[in-house]
Amino acid sequence: MDEKTLNSLILPRHIGFIMDGNGRWATARGLERAQGHKAGAQVFRSISTYCAKLGIESATFYAFSTENWKRPENEVNALMKLFKEFLEEAQAREEENEEIGFHIKFAGDTANMPEELVSLFDICEKRSADKTGTTVNVAVNYGGRAEITNAVRSIARKALNGEIAVDDIDENTVSSFLYTAGQPDPDLIIRTGGESRISNFLIWQSAYSEFYFTDVLWPDFTTDDLDRAIIDFCSRNRRFGAV
Ligand code: FPP
Repeated sequence: MDEKTLNSLILPRHIGFIMDGNGRWATARGLERAQGHKAGAQVFRSISTYCAKLGIESATFYAFSTENWKRPENEVNALMKLFKEFLEEAQAREEENEEIGFHIKFAGDTANMPEELVSLFDICEKRSADKTGTTVNVAVNYGGRAEITNAVRSIARKALNGEIAVDDIDENTVSSFLYTAGQPDPDLIIRTGGESRISNFLIWQSAYSEFYFTDVLWPDFTTDDLDRAIIDFCSRNRRFGAV
């Protein structure tokens, strides 16, 4: 996006990405599905870097859902390996990432996740915690209903302990127990790969999000495609329930 266009737009503060189409991209090339995820991981890198360049406050990437464990074991293993490589690379490129200003956050249930991965995420989160560039939420073992259920459980525990009065529980309380606590709700959610559904992604946070669906498969998604989605978003009239 050129400087002039960029300066004329009110950009989304938070963008969510449903990175769909890796498998089809690979199959169309006679490759293993895992190769599609590998290509998708490169696009995740370029798009998160571009979000930082644009000055987007938060970007959430749906990398692995609570339902994705049902996939063949070799595909699940390939994805776990990719996440590990990403985290190791983030450590190796700490200086570069610091310059970009990434604040990396894990969004998901750490239960039944490989221990090594959980601790790598923990290190990455801690090391990047004071960065003021784009917050990159990597949603792994993530499900929106599970996220809300966990929040309800934590709030109920606090109510039972007398730390919060039941009548004081409001929408902000719930938001503050979600993985995205303290971040703006997504203004824009982009799904690649031709399907038009939300698939349990940020279901609480997306109450007023604008949705952008594209047939482009995630490994083919470029910064130009993101520009198109943002420009489309900027042309919409968001009323948040008002007239
Ligand atoms: C959905 O496409 C995609 C996934 C389940 C995995 C997304 C993960 C990545 C892009 C890797 C991200 C990497 C890091 C490091 C965060 P699909 O496999 O369901 O595609 P299909 O609908 O064509 O089968």
